[in-house]
Amino acid sequence: MIEIKSKDEIEKISRASQVVGKVLRQLQEIIEPGITTEAIDQTAEKLLHKFGAVSAFKGYSGYPANICTSINEEVVHGIPGKRRLNEGDIISIDVGAKVDGYFGDAAFTFAIGNVSTVAKDLLAVTYESLQRGIKQARPGNHLSDISSAIQVYAESYDFSIVRKFVGHGIGSKLHEEPEIPNFGKPGIGPQLRVGMVLAIEPMVNQGSYEVEILEDKWTAVTKDRQLSAHFEHTICVTEGKPEILTAWE
Ligand code: MF3
Ligand code: CO
Repeated sequence: MIEIKSKDEIEKISRASQVVGKVLRQLQEIIEPGITTEAIDQTAEKLLHKFGAVSAFKGYSGYPANICTSINEEVVHGIPGKRRLNEGDIISIDVGAKVDGYFGDAAFTFAIGNVSTVAKDLLAVTYESLQRGIKQARPGNHLSDISSAIQVYAESYDFSIVRKFVGHGIGSKLHEEPEIPNFGKPGIGPQLRVGMVLAIEPMVNQGSYEVEILEDKWTAVTKDRQLSAHFEHTICVTEGKPEILTAWE
């Protein structure tokens, strides 16, 4: 069952989501060649606390850090550590905040200085696939209309959609029903209704969609070690256009 959130609940998810947006905006300012992902995580923790939030990820199923930082061939759930960013890298930063018992969740993949043409294309296409998915989040549409819009767009550029990880409902829990795959035929699954809150998060690979998990049990990487990008927003279905609760960019 997909929960329909009350006005009051949406207000709380919105507050958590705005914190996520502010954290991402400020992290964008500090990422440069030479910084470690651990330092980015430490700044994220300070910012979350300054804005009255705690990390939604720390301790979740034993996850050891505040945010996820996934560089180049890393798809999602990269654990911050001693690795330093280099000019030409791409890095997905995934931030989740909890405020007053409610969650917001968003991710953005940044380019570090000058990146290759294919990296630029991958970022632009993944970003646009998320926007196209969000546009489908209208009352009366089916859940898989979101999935299909994302897949059709990304595959039209010969990139591939990761199967293993999906988006999710969000509210008083980080992960709620439904699962939101980033691929599939349109017109399938539950109909969307006003008051549903969803975290839509396409992961798009340069090469094959296959991923594997590293020894650390978290970091997902592309099997072929080609690039991967990840963008995510928490959105609310309204009578009109979907409202992007984590909007910051
Ligand atoms: N946005 C990701 C997700 O919803 C981040 C989760 S990190 C975890 O799956 F540590 F919480 F798992
Ligand atoms: Co998420």
